[in-house]
Amino acid sequence: MRTETDFNSGWLFALNLEGDCAGIGFDDSSWQTVTLPHDWSTEYAPRQDAPTGGGGGFATAGVGWYRKRFSLTDVGAEERVSLRFDGVYMDATIYCNGKRVGWHGYGYGSVTVDLTDSLVFEENVVAVRVDNSHQPNSRWYSGSGIYRRVTLVRTGQVHMEPWGVRCCANGIYPTRNTTSLQIRALIRNDSGSPVHAGVIHRLLDGEGQCVCTSGASVWLEPGEASDSMTRPNVASPRLWTVEDPYLYTLVSTVVVDGEPVDEVTSRVGIRTAAFDCDRGFLLNGERVKIKGMCLHQDGGITGAAFRPEVWRRRLGLLRNMGCNGIRCAHNPPDPQFLDLCDEMGFLVMDEIFDEWMLSKNKTDNYYSQAFAYGSSRYFERYAEEELTTMLRRDFNHPSVILWSIGNEIPEQSSLDGVKLLKFLQDICHREDASRMVTSACDNIAAVEDIRTLREFENALDVVGYNYVGRWRERAETFYDEDRHEFPSRRMIGSENPSVGGRRGDYSGRGFFGHYADATLQHEALWRYTVSRDFVAGDYLWTGIDYLGETRWPARGAACGPIDTAGFPKDAYWYFKSIWNKDEITLHLLPHWNWRGQEGQFVEVVCYTNCERVSLYINDRLVGTKGFECPRFGAVNAWNEGFGRFRTTNDLHLVWDVPYEPGTLRAEGWMNGQVVAVETVETTGRAVSVEAAAEREKLRVGELVHIELSFTDERGRPVPDAEPEVRCEIAGPARLVGMDSGDLTDLSLYSSPQRKALAGRLLALVEATGCGEVAVTFSAEGMREKTVDFFAE
Ligand code: GAL
Repeated sequence: MRTETDFNSGWLFALNLEGDCAGIGFDDSSWQTVTLPHDWSTEYAPRQDAPTGGGGGFATAGVGWYRKRFSLTDVGAEERVSLRFDGVYMDATIYCNGKRVGWHGYGYGSVTVDLTDSLVFEENVVAVRVDNSHQPNSRWYSGSGIYRRVTLVRTGQVHMEPWGVRCCANGIYPTRNTTSLQIRALIRNDSGSPVHAGVIHRLLDGEGQCVCTSGASVWLEPGEASDSMTRPNVASPRLWTVEDPYLYTLVSTVVVDGEPVDEVTSRVGIRTAAFDCDRGFLLNGERVKIKGMCLHQDGGITGAAFRPEVWRRRLGLLRNMGCNGIRCAHNPPDPQFLDLCDEMGFLVMDEIFDEWMLSKNKTDNYYSQAFAYGSSRYFERYAEEELTTMLRRDFNHPSVILWSIGNEIPEQSSLDGVKLLKFLQDICHREDASRMVTSACDNIAAVEDIRTLREFENALDVVGYNYVGRWRERAETFYDEDRHEFPSRRMIGSENPSVGGRRGDYSGRGFFGHYADATLQHEALWRYTVSRDFVAGDYLWTGIDYLGETRWPARGAACGPIDTAGFPKDAYWYFKSIWNKDEITLHLLPHWNWRGQEGQFVEVVCYTNCERVSLYINDRLVGTKGFECPRFGAVNAWNEGFGRFRTTNDLHLVWDVPYEPGTLRAEGWMNGQVVAVETVETTGRAVSVEAAAEREKLRVGELVHIELSFTDERGRPVPDAEPEVRCEIAGPARLVGMDSGDLTDLSLYSSPQRKALAGRLLALVEATGCGEVAVTFSAEGMREKTVDFFAE
């Protein structure tokens, strides 16, 4: 029977060693001990001369070696042993006891490597050479090393293929209150004789009760793998939806001669997902507007190393903002990321490539033909294998509603483009009849020679529009012309501008301009998208700031409403006000500490989903405003209403207020009543450090986020305090790093000292053993703060 064991601890690591380090007897005694996931780029501060360049976030790359000793004395003669790598960046050669057993080039894919024939059972050494030295090779921060989990898999000779079980809903029949599932199972016979195998699937609900069973049999020649299919019905299914992302467990058992020989457990959700040219995106047949965000995979402090705690917090913030969709830009994510999306009810666009055969320039205008490294290097020989792996690996995630075969692929404007598109789209259809396929196209209808060809767009199941308003002739019309010309076209905004900038910066000097105008571009797009059913929705660039795609002196790009430390910027409440209908939003900006600017006008902005807002300065009414967007009579409108609302066609409210120290107070009205009050006060100087940990108890190896703020004598958080903070830890824990979200702070994240930004700082601490831990934060001239927790 199968066992799957965590293979992530006890690795040794060395950077940039010459020669072959794979041999059993190789002296690795001076190497660094690491636990996976491990991204060696996070161990170095950004350097202006780093060959990864601005695209790669000025990160250190190079060639890394990993080694791990392990014994497997109990392996039976009939067993197969393999290692599953969820992701290694990049060009990984895998050795077992000095013998090369596998290779995987593409840094974002998963791979399984069979070790069986190289094992010596007593002491084995697995070694991995990771070559990230050919730079620049990524337009964003890639990380370096074995940055996702590794699992040791043991099976018998007759076993399920990796990612062999695929389950989806065939159809949902509301009138009969049933659903029919289609379950495929790909079984391999590694034994020397033919086998007649059976597979039994049991579907368990959230309480572990079996709600349906099905079975099939397959005839397998030696060395052959074969697919089986069953089509059971589930009565009274609890469907997976955005609001109730209900999950079932599918237990699939392979049986030979009446004996179970393998068993695989998959988490599945019951739902259908389709795109319609008139109705947009349909989940279980019902219209759902996609309010999505694009995300790169780095987690800020943790780099590319996937840590579920980091992503649970980040995705939780996005969910609370009202975001219901994620585009994995521009590569398959860690499988655990999709687990979180399944649990939280996100609608995911899962993407395979940023380039096909034509390489993009990683530093400048990427359509230039200058030589650059990248995944195009592997395209011709490995594209099919890579795509097939993603399709099978991610198939069972109900959150995945759309496959994307590429982002802004340069071939979109070349003669070969359609041919390659069809090649990839056909693979998707072959592997998965339940999902549609898109490619994120840019320069649609642009005048340049890089415009997407009509044939390219027309060949896609769903046309992905990147920056539909970017080209002059589309700035007002968005999708209208294409809708007119191609009425049966399915449309999704695969990438459009979000609202970013530096958190707490009201200077107006950043890319997003003055804070009172920052949301206007998105507002125009949203007013359009929300009132046209045929546009399925949007994925915006981006939900969270990310490392890379920058210029010196910065380490990343501030494109989102949340910074790399996971602190919301003001725009967070803008999105929340238009997207989250379950909570009242009433947010005022900027802060009210404008010493020396008394009497000068300050624009006070309010993001709200209240009907109207009254603003007071020191208890004097400044004015009352409300919304009128869209105009009377629109369908599925702002606040779902048909009502007439007041004064502005924008999705935010603004007052000009002459500055005087004191209190700004906003009262939010709904149905004739004040339902929310928000105040912003002039504060004193920061005198205390405050710190709050998200939990008091941790398991060893787990991370805890500690959020810092700085308060004045009256205990009020000071929004413009930016002290240098020191972190000291007593007990079995280590500081993984601190981050303020300031992308121009180029110091090492793991340094124990860091400057806050706009009143906030994050510390990420990992429990390394059992016992009491005390983490103390101090800043000059302030009372320090200690946070205690217990690790077990
Ligand atoms: C898009 C591209 C993204 C990112 C973004 C920057 O065109 O698809 O990967 O580069 O621009 O704003």
